[in-house]
Formats: sequence, C-alpha cells, structure tokens
Amino acid sequence: MSRVYEAQSLLPFVTASTTLASEGPSKIAATHLDFYYGQAQALTDLSLGIPPNLVTAFIGPSGCGKSTFLRTLNRMNDIIPRTRVTGEVRIDGQDIYAPGTDVVALRRKVGMVFQKSNPFPKSIFENVAYGLRVNGLQGNRSELNERVEESLRAAAIWDEVKDRLHQSALSLSGGQQQRLCIARTLAIQPEVVLMDEPASALDPMATQRIEELIFELKKTYTIVIVTHNMQQAARVSDRTAFFWLGRLIEYGPTDRLFTNPQEKLTEDYVTGRFG
Ligand SMILES: Nc1ncnc2c1ncn2[C@@H]1O[C@H](COP(=O)(O)OP(=O)(O)OP(=O)(O)O)[C@@H](O)[C@H]1O
Ligand SMILES: [Mg+2]
Repeated sequence: MSRVYEAQSLLPFVTASTTLASEGPSKIAATHLDFYYGQAQALTDLSLGIPPNLVTAFIGPSGCGKSTFLRTLNRMNDIIPRTRVTGEVRIDGQDIYAPGTDVVALRRKVGMVFQKSNPFPKSIFENVAYGLRVNGLQGNRSELNERVEESLRAAAIWDEVKDRLHQSALSLSGGQQQRLCIARTLAIQPEVVLMDEPASALDPMATQRIEELIFELKKTYTIVIVTHNMQQAARVSDRTAFFWLGRLIEYGPTDRLFTNPQEKLTEDYVTGRFG
C-alpha cells in the first residue's frame, strides 16, 4: 500500500501528515490543527484524515493530547474557558469551526462516550429515551419503545436489561452501564462515535464485550477510540495514530504501525520502552 505521506525523521519537529492513498475521502479531516489551553499549547500542527466505517485508535503517553484532539472533533472543548483552536477540522467536507456551525447538530452527528460511564440517575429506559426526547426524535409511544429497544440491542445489552427496563440505571454493573451509555449515544443516530478510553475502568470480560461491540459498530459508524492499552488498539482498530507531546508522530494501518513502525519514537512506545 503506498502512502502519500512521509513522516520526517527530524524529531521532535516531525509533522506526520496523513491520509492513506488507497482510501477514499476522509470522514473527518483535521488540517494544521493547533489547540491552546490559555497560553499552553496542547496540540501542534496536527493533520490527520479519518476514514469512514473503520476504527481509528489514538495512542500515546499520558498528557500527549489524545483527549484534547478527540474533543476538537465535536467541539466539546468549546465548553472549557480560555481555549483556542486554529486550523481546520472538516467532517464530510464541512468546516465544523466555520461561523454559523450548528454545534448541537454537530454533536448529534458526532457522539461521544466517556471513560467513566455516566448514566443519569433514572431508569434504564429513560437513559436511552432522554436523548430522543430532547432531540425531538421520540415519535409516539410505540416508536419510542422501538427506538429504545433498537439502541439497547445495538449496544449489545438488550438481553441483560429487557426484563428490568424500569429499574435504575445505577443498579447495573460498570460494564453494563458503559454499554447503556453507548446505547444512549447510538439512540440519536450519530454517524461518528468518539470513545475516550471506554473500557479502562472495566474488568477483562466487560472489556471484551466492549471490544466485540466496537467491531460490530464499525459496520454502521465511524469510530475513533482513545486507549492506553496497546493490545486493545491492536485488537480493535484498523488505523492507529501515535501522539507524543501534542504532535502526531505516526499514523498508519494498525498492523503496520505495531509490527513495522517507521519512527523510532513509535517503536520505543509500542515496545514499552516509555509511556
Ligand atoms: N481543561 C484543561 N485545562 C488546562 N489544560 C488541560 C486541560 N485538559 C488537558 N490539559 C492539558 O493538555 C495536555 C493534553 O491533555 P489531554 O487530556 O488531551 O492528554 P491525554 O493524551 O488524553 O492524556 P491521558 O492519557 O492522561 O488521558 C496536558 O498537558 C494537559 O495537562
Ligand atoms: Mg485522555
């Protein structure tokens, strides 16, 4: 597979730019993206194209900007005071930072699942129905019931909760709560699902269920996942991007990045020499 980019080897000034030649248009394309918290620059000149209907993993040591970058993709950083972004993020060709962008619609299209599952203190049913209601998508009672069931099925949790839909979501296990939160995100029919370490608080069985689910979901959605777990990145993702100190160091097909990294830094990281 030929790549249109060449990561320069002049680290730390490397700017690995990044669409893979064999791929069609990116679902998400970041170009020369810089991000600041006050005076502190957290992302530097990131350019990265994320293909549709695949899983793209972000890896890198703590503090390298993975979560920050993820949040720039649906403008979740907007809610943090004194932040600033320059450069461009396009989703389906549309500049999401252009004036007049409907941020609510953007976040419907680009849903997010967080590290710590955060169900509302309401019933299992209401957790999923809520998003439909606030977005005016609930339809009549039987349509609402259908959408809730569909979302719970898509998140691979229906069989575990179908007989207890009106019990509190907080009565579920951690892994179930995380899948419920995924169901809540899927209910409003996003096209992209951003996941920030969705399994890091889960035991191995629950983690495996989330990973299987991610594999299923990519048929329908474009998935971007941040993970600290390199085996997980290797198992679930098609593309991996390695970040270091706010820069994108290397990006490519996951198997290539793990077995034949082009950059010394990537190699040191994936072989566990630092991080
Ligand atoms: N709300 C914030 N205000 C100020 N600085 C922040 C904020 N959030 C993150 N940062 C800083 O931005 C940099 C990138 O942080 P970020 O959370 O994106 O890293 P990360 O790669 O997700 O790390 P981790 O693996 O620990 O989750 C860090 O230096 C961090 O301290
Ligand atoms: Mg993070």
